[in-house]
Amino acid sequence: MENREAELKEKITNLKEKRKAIILAHNYQLGEVQDIADFVGDSLELSQKAAKTGAEVIVFCGVLFMAETASILCPDKIVLLPDRHAGCPLADMITAKQLKEKKREHPKATVVCYINSSAAVKAASDICCTSANAVRLVEKLAGAEEIIFVPDQYLGNYASARSGRKMILWPGFCPTHIRIQPQDIARQKAERPQAKVVVHPECRPEVIALADEVLSTGGMCRFARETEAKEIIIGTEIGIIHRLKKENPEKRFTPVSEQAICPYMKLITLEKILWSLKNMANPVKVAAGTRLRAKAAVDRMLETG
Ligand code: 13P
Repeated sequence: MENREAELKEKITNLKEKRKAIILAHNYQLGEVQDIADFVGDSLELSQKAAKTGAEVIVFCGVLFMAETASILCPDKIVLLPDRHAGCPLADMITAKQLKEKKREHPKATVVCYINSSAAVKAASDICCTSANAVRLVEKLAGAEEIIFVPDQYLGNYASARSGRKMILWPGFCPTHIRIQPQDIARQKAERPQAKVVVHPECRPEVIALADEVLSTGGMCRFARETEAKEIIIGTEIGIIHRLKKENPEKRFTPVSEQAICPYMKLITLEKILWSLKNMANPVKVAAGTRLRAKAAVDRMLETG
């Protein structure tokens, strides 16, 4: 490890203790950020962890909607996002106003919102979901007359195909996952015919059709540990490769596309974590009214999931 990195890590560890803080990091974070975190996981695992922590401060190494979810679940804790520009373009593809207009067109519909959405959109939804539980949660809505699914059309389409449930889909998408093309998989498969192909459900249906497994990032980490396969082709943001290699040094992981990089996830660095802890900078707090309504949708997911 470089001196600079070791020094920063030591300072962060000391300050973290002083502040009674926990560092949560998403699987797409830079390797050095994952390595300093107390817990690394997918969106569902991170929200479960946030809900249970006894820490006073949560340093959220991820993007804004994740820090907002932590604030929704833990109103008494200070949630810090080390770079306030770390947003999610998919989450920004629908506003609460647009969702309310859609609900007026379909007044009897149940609204399922992907966790990649703002607190205000969650507050206008009935139930939240993540990529790890979308299919299961939609299956459980058997009694719903109509379902509106926002904002990711591809996750919605996947959940609809798997559950056999027709849904009204919002036309949002993840700009990173749509860079993954079917021809990228074909190329990787031709070079590694024995490899298993695992993709994220935010990918296009043509990509999903070529995969052996469709999993959340947490599901990918579990699959990598449990599979007999020695080679795995990974169709999601490339930050996850760091964790996969670290946990499975005897296996080989190849990203479907080197272009699948989320620039927002990469905004969080060790320097910014230290700065944020030092100055208690960039607190994320969801306003009380919005929080209570959003919490009902998130709680319903956590209870059902
Ligand atoms: P996961 O919940 O699978 O980690 O996905 C989060 C995400 O934002 C994917 O783009």
